[in-house]
Amino acid sequence: MMSNENGFEHIGVIGLGTMGKGIVLAIAQAGYHVTAVDRDQPLVDRGLESIKKSIQRMCEKGALEGQERDHIISNINGLTDLSSLTKCDLIIEAAFEDLKIKRGLFREMDKSCPAETLFASNTSSLSITQLASGLSRPDKVIGMHFFNPVPVMRLVEVIKTVTTSLETIKRIIKFVRSLKKEPIVVRDQAGFLVNYLLTPFLFDAVRALNGGLGTVEEIDKGMRYGCGHPMGPLALCDLIGLDILINAGNTLFDEHRENRYAPPPLLRRLVELGDLGVKSGRGFYSYQDPNKPTPRSL
Ligand code: 3HC
Repeated sequence: MMSNENGFEHIGVIGLGTMGKGIVLAIAQAGYHVTAVDRDQPLVDRGLESIKKSIQRMCEKGALEGQERDHIISNINGLTDLSSLTKCDLIIEAAFEDLKIKRGLFREMDKSCPAETLFASNTSSLSITQLASGLSRPDKVIGMHFFNPVPVMRLVEVIKTVTTSLETIKRIIKFVRSLKKEPIVVRDQAGFLVNYLLTPFLFDAVRALNGGLGTVEEIDKGMRYGCGHPMGPLALCDLIGLDILINAGNTLFDEHRENRYAPPPLLRRLVELGDLGVKSGRGFYSYQDPNKPTPRSL
């Protein structure tokens, strides 16, 4: 069992969606025991299956050996019962991006977990202060914002509220480094730092498409070949999830009241159609063949 200077051995993760799965894998790979919890058994089974596939792919690429693979898999436990997290030193919430759901989870955990357990949220835009308010441990609540795809992206934004203690911040920084990721500590404001900068850029790409400045392909090519971005902004919207982007935009707009944060109508229409990006098979691109996304004419 891992036991290092941050004092964490057992980590809990709530939610096995796109981000939760990546977070579980990154933590298990670093040698910690992880208990992952989701609402029902099919969701847990699907999440664990997808994590095992990622581990298998790493083995096929030669990035992992058989013994390491078995060790990582043995570090992960998937369950449906929140009470199984009470033995964890740190609980990272990566549930659906909805304030009511997240607050409910934190309140339940606050009642059942020992006073020393730290609580982190992977929210991309909700207020950590709101999540901490009313809990018995506001000094032990913090934001840990991972980036998609979690196994590849090295940054974790560590979000401190006015009540987060210095000790909590220091332990989380050490923990992030133990995952071989880089932390930046930012204040609790809508979008934190990265989404505060990224969201208006992505919305501008959607506005450029809607205004006829270029096609999906041209806009993405423009930023990839002209500015060296690893992927174009519209492909990135699809990767993040168009529904997630609308939630982020709404939160940013509510806080800053600037038009550049208002989700563009075209984005809303796509979400109304159920076109959420890669995860639903269609967004600005069609992913019928996942290896060959086709730009749509919108
Ligand atoms: N899981 C695991 N590994 C993955 C992966 C995934 N989902 N996607 C890609 N990879 C790995 C590949 O296996 C490959 O590894 P290798 O070099 O060891 O073979 C490596 O990443 C490169 O992948 P590819 O060769 O397939 O493709 P690219 O070179 O185009 O890289 C990318 C893909 C890493 C996704 C790259 O395009 C990129 O960095 N894009 C930008 C992503 C980004 O900006 N993310 C932040 C989004 S904002 C966010 O998450 C915040 C939220 O709150 C909204």
